[in-house]
Amino acid sequence: MPVSKSIPVFAGAVLLIGAVTYGAASSGSKSSDDWIAQAADSASVQLAATAEAIDSTGLFPRSLMTDYSLEQLVDQLEAPHTDFKVELLPHPGLDEFRTLRLCDVADWTSGFFPGSLWLAYELTGDTTLRTQAERYTNRMLPASYMTDTHDLGFMVNCSYGNALRLAPADSIRTVLVRTADNLASRFDPAIGCIRSWDFGEWNFPVIIDNMMNLQLLFNAAKITGDKRYSDIAVTHARTTLAHHFRPDHTCYHVVSYAPDGSVESAGTFQGKNDASAWARGQGWALYGFTETYRESQVKEFLDKAVAVADMIMGRIKTEDKIPYWDLDAPAESQTPRDASAAAVIASGMIELGYILHNEKYTDFAEAILRSLASPAYMAPTGTNCGFVLMHSVGSLPHGSEIDTPLNYADYYFLEALNRLARVKKGLAPVEDFLA
Ligand code: GLY
Repeated sequence: MPVSKSIPVFAGAVLLIGAVTYGAASSGSKSSDDWIAQAADSASVQLAATAEAIDSTGLFPRSLMTDYSLEQLVDQLEAPHTDFKVELLPHPGLDEFRTLRLCDVADWTSGFFPGSLWLAYELTGDTTLRTQAERYTNRMLPASYMTDTHDLGFMVNCSYGNALRLAPADSIRTVLVRTADNLASRFDPAIGCIRSWDFGEWNFPVIIDNMMNLQLLFNAAKITGDKRYSDIAVTHARTTLAHHFRPDHTCYHVVSYAPDGSVESAGTFQGKNDASAWARGQGWALYGFTETYRESQVKEFLDKAVAVADMIMGRIKTEDKIPYWDLDAPAESQTPRDASAAAVIASGMIELGYILHNEKYTDFAEAILRSLASPAYMAPTGTNCGFVLMHSVGSLPHGSEIDTPLNYADYYFLEALNRLARVKKGLAPVEDFLA
């Protein structure tokens, strides 16, 4: 079990809680699924309080500042310090550990907080959350004009995409299509992929995370009727299917392509080493291929999602089913677990279980979510600087965000709770925004 740290609420800030009602948990009936409503209620209190507390900054909550020791990182990476490809910072020794790390709209994680507010609104029906979701989503508008990142799906689809589903408006469609155009501008037909990063030594880096941006293109295809968007998404997924995976169905984090489309390198950026299975990357693969199958009905994508899901289920050895930050990290008590990877895996597996009518995946996802909703991972209201979950890992090799809350852990946790609640009601886990 990870060590539960007591993290104060916003340093120097007053936390306002309790101005809203939470229909789900307070509706009376006791069933074995009350934990979902209770988790939704608790998460909503945290998110609503955060939205108020940081409103005047114009920024978004990302994580908490964390410290680390070089020894801890060396132990996790199992490599002599001099072998690290990334430069490790010295032990920071700053005063602001365990205080709030905010981000601006250009950060890849900016859209998750508005998205979490939408998902919490969906779970509880609380109109205060909806008002806050609208306010924070509107702040995402500049992201729709960005062209220098592939993260546009995370940023704009998690914010405006949920807005379109829950509060449709033509202005939202315009934002989504403009963003999809900018994402599509990073597609190279000779390579068959959308370029991920503009930094680094790679010629044309594509990270597995990029599968998560494809939903934006499928949405733009539906909004406009223009198949060009979905064709790009399917081509990107086919190229990724061909080159990102090893025979055991684990995936590389980063594949770089030469201009003719041949693979020039395959390795990691955030994982333990080039041959390892970085936990969140495996989650992105499972989720991304499941959702791309839903949108395209290409059978090979479903087959890959199943293979990845089975691999993950076989490789997670922790008793609470929350993976270590890398599936190849040392299986020992001081190895950080990654609640964000767990939440992504749970959300993807609920959809996979629904598509296949196979409860094996849904049950595994529910076991993960029950762990995340337990006191071992879910922070009591009024703590954790307003984040819902504790114990995620951003990028351990960079000494960044280790054993900390992350806004995307909260987002995929809430999404997975929504999906599970829908499945338990006999509904499809994912509601088409055109429905
Ligand atoms: N997309 C970056 C990450 O998963 O950390």
